[in-house]
Parts: sequence; C-alpha cells; structure tokens
Amino acid sequence: MLKQTDVMEKIVALCRRRGFIFGSSEIYGGIGGFWDYGPLGCELKKNIKDAWWFDMVRNPPPGPSGVEYQMVGVDCSIIMNPKVWEASGHVGGFSDPMVDCKECKGRFRADELDWIAKTPCPNCKAVGGLTEPRQFNLMFQTHVGALQDASSVAYLRPETAQGIFANFKNVMDSTRVKIPFGIAQIGKAFRNEINPRNFTFRSREFEQMEIEFFCKPDESMAWYEFWRDLRLKWYESLGIKSDKLRPREQGADELAHYSKACTDIEYMFPFSDEPQELEGVAHRGSFDLNQHGKHSKGKEDAFAVVSDEAARFVPHVIEPSAGVDRFTLAAITEAYCFDESRASPEFMKFHPRLAPIKAAVFPLVAKDGMPEIAESIYREIKKHFPVQYDAKQSIGKRYARMDEAGTPFCFTIDGQTKDDGTVTVRNRDDASQIRIDKSRCLEFLREKLGL
Ligand code: GAP
Repeated sequence: MLKQTDVMEKIVALCRRRGFIFGSSEIYGGIGGFWDYGPLGCELKKNIKDAWWFDMVRNPPPGPSGVEYQMVGVDCSIIMNPKVWEASGHVGGFSDPMVDCKECKGRFRADELDWIAKTPCPNCKAVGGLTEPRQFNLMFQTHVGALQDASSVAYLRPETAQGIFANFKNVMDSTRVKIPFGIAQIGKAFRNEINPRNFTFRSREFEQMEIEFFCKPDESMAWYEFWRDLRLKWYESLGIKSDKLRPREQGADELAHYSKACTDIEYMFPFSDEPQELEGVAHRGSFDLNQHGKHSKGKEDAFAVVSDEAARFVPHVIEPSAGVDRFTLAAITEAYCFDESRASPEFMKFHPRLAPIKAAVFPLVAKDGMPEIAESIYREIKKHFPVQYDAKQSIGKRYARMDEAGTPFCFTIDGQTKDDGTVTVRNRDDASQIRIDKSRCLEFLREKLGL
C-alpha cells in the first residue's frame, strides 16, 4: 500500500512523464500557479468539458416534478468593462487577507496561518517579522489600449459567471427561452492566488464550467435542491466513488448576505486529510441581476424584471459552478492504481467516457502480414474512437504505455490471427486476455465502452 503523500508524488510524476500535465514555461524555470496540459491531458480535459456540456446543456434531465426547462450556452470575452466587476462586488471585495514577511519578503494567506503577532514566517521561520494582515485583491489587472493610466485599467475575469449575468437580457431577447431556464458557459478564469498549491488544485489560471439557472423566487429552493443532487450524481456517473465525495452544506456564518443556501461538493484528494471543493452550488437570490440592473446604463427594471401571465418579478438564480482543472485532477487521482503484482504496476482506470484513448492496436511483430491487419483494424476504429497504433518495442512495454495512459482495451494481432482470424483483446483493469474475431473489434469496443 502506498502512503497518501507518495500517491500524490507518483501521480505528479506520471502526469509529467506521460504528457498529462507539465509546469508552464518549464524551460525557463516555470511560473507558480500556471500549468500546461499535454497530449493526454488535453484529451482528458476535453472529454470532461464535452461530458458536462452534453449532460447539462444539450441533454439535461427533467427538473423537479418532471418539469421541462431550457438550457443554452454563451461564450463571453475574458476582459469585460470594469464596471461589471464594480457591480458584482469583485473590485471592492474579492480579496484574501495576507501578511508579508519583512525578512524574506514572502507573502502568505493570513487565514491559513492562524495568524498572531508571534507567528513564525512559514518560509524563513523568522519570528515577529510578519506584517499585520492586509486585504489583497485577487483580480489580475491589465490595461486596454495604448494609455497605461487609471482610465484604461481592466481585469482578467476571476469567474465566468458575470459574462452570463451581463448577457441575461440579450439571451432573453434573442432566443425563445422562458423562466425557468439556464445559461451555461465554459471558459478560463484568472485569480492572483497568494499561495497556489497542491498541483493544479489552486492555480492562477484555470477553467470553470458554470451555469446560472433563472427561476421564480417561490420555486427557487426546489431548483437549488435539484441542481445540488444532480451535480453530485454527475460526478458519480463519471466514475468518482461516492465515499470520496461529500456534499457540504455551508453554515449560516459562511453564506454571502444575499444567499439562502450553498453546498460545496467536495472530493477527498490524496494531498489532504479533509475533502476539498470541486464545485459550489449556490442559491444567489436576485443579487446579481439586481446589481447589474442598478449599475448598468439601462433602466434598472428593464434589465432584471421579467413578466409571466401572473406577475412581474426578478428571477432568482441557482449557480452550479465547477472547476474543470479540479475535476480533471480528481479524475486523475481517482483513476490512479498501483499494483505491484502486475507487470505494469501503475495504471489509470479512467471511466470510458473520460479515457483520452479508447483503444490501441498492436502487431505482435512487424512482419508476416501482422502490420497490415493491425493497420486496417486501426483505420476502422479511428473513424469512431480515439485509438493509437503502436508497433515499437516489446508487447509488454506497449501494454504498460497504454496502462499508464488509461486505455481500456488493446487489440493484438499475432501468429494465430492468420490461422483463425482472431485477435487478442487485453483488458486494462485486470490484464486479462480473450480472443475475438478480427472483424468484431469495433463492435466489441462499442459494447464494452457503452459509447
Ligand atoms: N461564480 C462562482 C465562483 O466562481 P468559486 O467557488 O470561487 O465560485 C467555483 O469557484 C469553482 O471554480 C470552484 O469550486 C473550483 O472548482 C474552481 N476554482 C476556484 N478557484 C480556483 C483556483 N484557484 N484554481 C483552480 N480552480 C479554482
């Protein structure tokens, strides 16, 4: 059995070795809190985003009591008019308390230090050198246009949500959506985190998958419960074990003043003894629409108020807000298996929908007509699934490479294929092998992957 700390080390090493995740700009010494996804990592991340979009936007299940609703998407700019961030409260309030060390000049989050005047610096251990906590705004600033003064200041968005709110009326006016409905967005967000850490878990550049769901105020609690339960089930449907997931309802002292309820969906990562947040599902009331109604140049009412046959009201909002990178890391840690009894001890048991490569095709040796048969099977599968052809090195090494990539099945063309037309199918999870007719490879994959 590996210790949890060793598991994390092995995962980080495998991610680098096999091209899931690299440190950003490594050749120049890297940059804290920024990461690059390699060939396997970007396929995995894309599968996660595609699964979310398909399950939440294109094909969402019926709502409470079987009610139908619409989901639509937007793709908004990363830099918006800075007034957006004044209205949302991010300019005034999106900050963490931090302390600086006068000795080593390090900067740390005060809320993570149990801060008192005599706290030693976590870096140089000097006692009495930490400053009083000060608020540190997490938004990255830039300038728009040639002038670099106060009038040109703009921000990289710290969440995708505000692009959705700012377009609430555009979407209502340009489509036929009616309350209740949701607007979804996947995109990059940026936060100048004081202490980025735990691999990609807390990064300075990351991706979010957010939904703002607009409903009638008196139906909002039913919708909140619906989204909370649906989002939890979604992680389980993609292979996250339920005993590693925890829905944690926030206490009244943690809730924002406008929020009626919020549940953090947490996952037990190997780097911590406590489950950590994957996603927040928040009841945001009418706060955001009211704020943009007040701060934008149109008439307050015209932005936020909608009418139906019975009444005029400002919709309430339920916000399931998930981190793509956090779920990618959870999917990687959940998939990671170590079994010393196997020829290839490390393997990644990805859910079939998430596996970056679904199958591999190998000729046992590069002669006797085996490559030709393997190539024709590879070409057939390629039209339907991501598949790899590999003829290099021993068959054991090829299986090990695919185990580390998390490829569910490998098809091997060998001496027997010419005699009876069958190929070996090797299963990633238990390394078992069976033989099937070479004409059945695609059909076999479809059946077994359920895709
Ligand atoms: N619009 C609401 C919102 O942004 P949040 O809890 O600040 O809420 C939502 O962020 C999700 O975004 C988190 O649950 C997490 O998955 C992800 N996230 C937030 N900060 C992150 C960071 N520094 N690195 C990676 N993911 C982050």
